[in-house]
Amino acid sequence: MNLESYRGKIFVIKYGGAAMADDELKSGFFEDIALLQSSGIRVVIVHGGGKEVTAISNKLGFETKFIDGQRYTDRDTIEVVQMVLAGKINKDIVSVLCAHGIPALGICGIDCNLLKVKKFEHNGQDLGLVGTVASVNTRFLQTLFESGILPVIAPLGADENGIVHNINADNAVASIAKELHADKLMYVSDIVGVFARGGIVRSLNIEDAEQLIAETEIHGGMIPKVRSAFNAMKNNVASVVLVNGKQKNPIISQLSGVNIAGTEFVL
Ligand SMILES: Nc1ncnc2c1ncn2[C@@H]1O[C@H](COP(=O)(O)OP(=O)(O)OP(=O)(O)O)[C@@H](O)[C@H]1O
Ligand SMILES: [Mg+2]
Repeated sequence: MNLESYRGKIFVIKYGGAAMADDELKSGFFEDIALLQSSGIRVVIVHGGGKEVTAISNKLGFETKFIDGQRYTDRDTIEVVQMVLAGKINKDIVSVLCAHGIPALGICGIDCNLLKVKKFEHNGQDLGLVGTVASVNTRFLQTLFESGILPVIAPLGADENGIVHNINADNAVASIAKELHADKLMYVSDIVGVFARGGIVRSLNIEDAEQLIAETEIHGGMIPKVRSAFNAMKNNVASVVLVNGKQKNPIISQLSGVNIAGTEFVL
């Protein structure tokens, strides 16, 4: 596919932890990233890793608790989150990208104050050490772009006192896309698209999304995902789409319109 028309554009991509489980899908995703990068597109990857955090927490005997798809994060949990996301998953992704010849740099929101957070308030319920993004150091990201470096970001950040907080990866990616005025925000997860009432919703607006959340057709990790997508759309991000994560080359397929499913978010 000729990506020339996208040269210089900014693509912010959420690589969901859930999508990383399948090796063949994984290699297709990284092929796509290599093609974007070599076409002069400025790519940022933000990754999740919720399933691995839960698996390691369970091995260590820590309880895991979710409220509307967001992890309750106590002091033990934040240590696991930091180790698993910033330590393991981040470096696993970077090593594959580097093996594809891409100069990738693995960082988390703590590095260079990339993501400053404040405590996340969720309908009056305490989620512990969960942060919402207060500011994004876009200058730092622009410096990386200018050097041809692809940032791979683990969703953690520190507050004004340097206390580390977990950030839902979908919330983090939307804030980054917003502040960078990204041309595209794409979510890759382990699903074909947003399912509702027996089918895939190809185009989803905010009123229907809230209705589907109320009906629990959209639940768990999909709740912060769709809400973050609309948050980005309302704030300068022109194109926001949940691509078909079950397709081998999810991003290129989406861009070329071949065999696409996925869900496009519309205001
Ligand atoms: N209406 C829906 N359509 C599709 N998936 C849904 C829906 N409601 C809930 N889900 C669930 O949301 C999950 C995706 O969110 P999840 O947070 O688990 O993954 P992710 O965001 O890709 O990974 P991570 O949180 O680790 O970054 C799907 O695997 C599915 O089980
Ligand atoms: Mg998620």
